[in-house]
Amino acid sequence: MEIKNSAWITVSGEGGDVCPVFRRTFRVEKPVEKAELQITALGVYEAELNGLRVGDFVLAPGWTSYRTRLQVQTYDVTALLRTENELRVTVGRGWFRSPLPGWISSADKQRRCGQPCGLIAALCLRCTDGTEAIFRTDERWQWAESPVRFSEIYDGERYDARIVPDQWQAIRTLDWSRDILIRQEGEIVRETERIAAKRVFATPGGDTVVDFGQEVTGYVEFTADAKAGETVSFDHAEVRDRLGNWYNENYRGARALVEYTCREGKQTWHPRLTFFGFRYIRLLSWPGEARAEQFTAIAVHSDMKRTGWLKSGSAELNRLFSNIVWGQRGNFLDVPTDCPQRDERLGWTGDAQVFIKAASYFFDTGRFFKKWLHDLAADQRESGEVGQVIPDVLPDAPGSAAWGDAAAVCPWQIYQTFGDQTVLEDQYASMCKWVDFIGSVTETPHLWTGHFHFGDWLGLDAPSGSYKGSSREDLIASAFYARSAELVVKTGKVLGRDVSGYEELHRQIVSDFRKAFPEYRTQTEQVLAVHFGLAEDPQRTADALAERVRMDGTQLRTGFVGTPYILHVLSEYGHAFLSWDLLLRRAYPGWLYPVTRGATTIWEHWDGIREDGSFWSKDMNSFNHYAYGAVADWVFEQAAGLRHDEAHAGFTKVVYAPHPDERLGWLQARFDTRQGTLSALWTYEEDGIRYELETPVPALVCLQGRERWVGPGRHLFWSGK
Ligand code: BGC
Repeated sequence: MEIKNSAWITVSGEGGDVCPVFRRTFRVEKPVEKAELQITALGVYEAELNGLRVGDFVLAPGWTSYRTRLQVQTYDVTALLRTENELRVTVGRGWFRSPLPGWISSADKQRRCGQPCGLIAALCLRCTDGTEAIFRTDERWQWAESPVRFSEIYDGERYDARIVPDQWQAIRTLDWSRDILIRQEGEIVRETERIAAKRVFATPGGDTVVDFGQEVTGYVEFTADAKAGETVSFDHAEVRDRLGNWYNENYRGARALVEYTCREGKQTWHPRLTFFGFRYIRLLSWPGEARAEQFTAIAVHSDMKRTGWLKSGSAELNRLFSNIVWGQRGNFLDVPTDCPQRDERLGWTGDAQVFIKAASYFFDTGRFFKKWLHDLAADQRESGEVGQVIPDVLPDAPGSAAWGDAAAVCPWQIYQTFGDQTVLEDQYASMCKWVDFIGSVTETPHLWTGHFHFGDWLGLDAPSGSYKGSSREDLIASAFYARSAELVVKTGKVLGRDVSGYEELHRQIVSDFRKAFPEYRTQTEQVLAVHFGLAEDPQRTADALAERVRMDGTQLRTGFVGTPYILHVLSEYGHAFLSWDLLLRRAYPGWLYPVTRGATTIWEHWDGIREDGSFWSKDMNSFNHYAYGAVADWVFEQAAGLRHDEAHAGFTKVVYAPHPDERLGWLQARFDTRQGTLSALWTYEEDGIRYELETPVPALVCLQGRERWVGPGRHLFWSGK
């Protein structure tokens, strides 16, 4: 890459909070066939050539493990070129120099915040006469203070539209690694949808609030007619309190504030170097009377291709499906994050491994996860330990079972859904290292005992005052040890490696697990034992789980670890009706309860807002946390009945085994596999159930206890009720 021969540049003197804008003017006298800009920054940047925006990548260069990997974007700028040219680049703190995460203070965080801002670029011109010219970042560049007075991931952006950069000063070159520069690997982060404000209203407490009707991640664009010096300022919120008043205590340390000083006249603006998770904004200052048509929410996320759709005869279920998709859109902003609003927004490994399967039905997540997994491998510690978040901004925090296991679960899932073996090749060493790490820290060989764990995080059977459910941590950790070892074996076999050692390890773990945990005490323990192939008699354990669920009032007691699999285990062992009972439950706890409370995304807690309108808590209560949206993979695979067996990764052959339920009337699932469109619909009619299957590949149809193969094409089946 040509950019590797350019110099890193930074501001001279103390930049303070103000975001610098860098510039280079140059003259091009010959006709140019192609002009290509290679560029990246320490921070987030936005580039302009001759006053026109370069590309549409928002928050470029995205978020990677910056210590070792920094993506370079390449833009074709031929159409923007003139004879006299000016290239300008504004650089904000972004993730690179932000105090991530907000709630702890550590030496590493201080170090990161104190890093310099930096820019590196190479503009490569190929002229029609065959000659070439390259304009690089070097001492010919200048910098000035930009109108962006402050910008940061959690706290928001401050902009003064009256400021025209004019105090151009000499830059300083910066001694920073160029070995970390890599080509763009992830999806491009773009503005993907504009949502007009639904209304502007006054709360009982007297605040002026704009409601967009949908929780989104991105920013608000506004249009104001103002006098120079008048101000616009607003903060963000996801929900209102029980009286309908402004509420954003759950953002914790994230101020999520926009402050804008107007120039004279009509102006339209939105933040460019930060983002927010919100449904509402509160106008703290606004010139004149605010009208809904002056505000638009802009959704920003990794622009993955949409591939999956679910639709049913239940309006509430449809809202749940929509909430899951919005949860994904709001949290797939270059890295898979827990939530987009409070002072976290981190690549929590546990959340990602829980949701990856559902996510990979709705969108083609191949590129997105391959990039993130490269960061996971890059940040994996010497010992093989995988941290809690990737990029690892918590380098001192211990890994945990079901979180670090993302190292094995995620590559395998991407391979399974898309059939792309390269992800396994890329990650195999990292997967092995994770499994070896467990072996090196456990107190009991062939199990994982001891060590820090998050347990069945947010399990509903948690003892009072604890976030961790009652399932035994040693059991969960040992079950995931078995799972990850098994995935290493499977991966090694796909790649033709010798996996005999891991095969033996897996056998040992299963056998020791059975001895150590002869009985299961919670829903999650039963779920894991069956789902990971550990229970000696899976049918008996699944039956006992069904019994326990009923005894618990036909309610979930599971947390992050058990919830994604519980419906699978029930329906795979003859309790589909009970799975549906759980999914269709409208009261707390269950997927539809938030829907009845007007949720537009998935909540961190089933009762983020309680029946009486009060909140679960103020310090850990996100209303856009995708983890429980994992249930969508059950809807695709078990409810609609579309899946594949592991030997046919990438849906090269399909298994069609639906579990219809009359309470819905009908359910339709469509998934654009890399082989073509796969879709299924079941409908209850007067005297039976009608099934429609469209498959691009041969399918094994399992209906009414019979199995038969059908070829590619459209097929109709019928069964009595
Ligand atoms: C995050 C989670 C995460 C957890 C670790 C929380 O603060 O929001 O989703 O997995 O910490 O247990």
